[in-house]
This record gives sequence, C-alpha cells and structure tokens, in this order.
Amino acid sequence: MRYPVFCAPIILSLGLLVACSGGDQGEGPIVPPPPAPPEYAEKHMPAGWWGDAQKLEEGRKLFVGEANPDVNCASCHGRDGKPVKAGATDFRNPERMKLYSDTVWFWRISEGVPNTKMKGWKSKLSDDDRWKLVLFERSFGLSGKIWSVETNQWVDAGAK
Ligand code: HEC
Repeated sequence: MRYPVFCAPIILSLGLLVACSGGDQGEGPIVPPPPAPPEYAEKHMPAGWWGDAQKLEEGRKLFVGEANPDVNCASCHGRDGKPVKAGATDFRNPERMKLYSDTVWFWRISEGVPNTKMKGWKSKLSDDDRWKLVLFERSFGLSGKIWSVETNQWVDAGAK
C-alpha cells in the first residue's frame, strides 16, 4: 500500500520536467502573426539587400550587441536563434518563421509585441538597421530564402 505514495512525486516531477523543457523552446502552437498595420504594409527589404553579405554581417553585429551598446537581441533570442529567455520567439523554426513576411518582421522589430518583453526598437535603430536585422534573423530558419513580393511567400533565392 506504500506504492502509490512513493510513485506520485516521481510522476509529478516527470510531468513538470516535460512541461518545463517545452517552455524553454519558447514554442507555443504555431499561429500566423497578425497582418502589419497600413503604415507598414508596403515596406519591403530594400532592393539588392537579400544577397548582400556585408549587410548580413552588420545585422549579425547588431543582433549580438557588437554594433550598438543599447541593442542586444541575442540576450533574449540567443546568438544562434535559440531563445535564452522564456517566451522569446525561436527563429530557427522554419514552419513558424515562413509565416512572417519581411513586412511583418520589420513591423514587429519596429513596434514590438504589446504586453510582452519584446519592445519596439524604432527609437534606437534606423530603418536600415532594422532591415539588416530582418536579413540576419531570417538566416536562422530561412537561410537562402527571400521574400517574394509577387507571390507573397518565401522562395529560394536562386529561383528569382
Ligand atoms: C528582453 C528580451 C528581448 C529582447 C532584448 C529582444 N526580444 Fe524579440 N522577442 C522577445 C519576446 C519575449 C518575444 C515573443 C513575443 C510574443 O509573445 O509574441 C519576441 C519576439 C520577437 C519577434 C517575433 C514577433 C512576433 O510577431 O512574434 C521578432 C521578429 C523579434 N522578437 C526580434 C527581435 C530583435 C530584432 C531584437 C533586437 C533588436 C529583439 N527581438 C530583442 C524578447 C526580446
């Protein structure tokens, strides 16, 4: 009759372990982000930037805090796109990230996500800097892809 008394805590802590490791990934169910508001709706990656290695490198420096002391995206999102703070979006998941157009990405970096730790960065970063960040972030889960304005989806860079 002592059996259940011993087992209950073990089962409970196992359940907790599973719940916690799920939370670490910052991954809830995959739901499409809301559309960008009108003032952002027409904004896209500047022409010629998708293949620009130098802009990509500048984006990396911004992301990891080497370019601007006030900006360190990696402190929450992780240097390799794997979240280090609970709830931060995991940029390595292509299934999630392909639902974000370049426009939505830029909008979210600019204005943040209300009621979360993700604040807006437009007061600290120029438009160009925010586009460089989009460029770098897409390299985690959508490397080699570019947003096609014509077909409204991510396509292989070579296919264009
Ligand atoms: C203090 C922690 C923190 C920092 C620093 C931070 N973020 Fe975030 N970010 C978050 C969290 C938390 C979320 C998830 C918000 C949510 O629940 O939708 C998020 C979400 C995002 C998203 C996805 C938005 C969406 O619609 O789901 C993008 C893109 C993003 N961050 C980019 C950046 C960039 C670029 C930087 C640096 C300029 C940055 N973040 C800095 C915490 C942070």
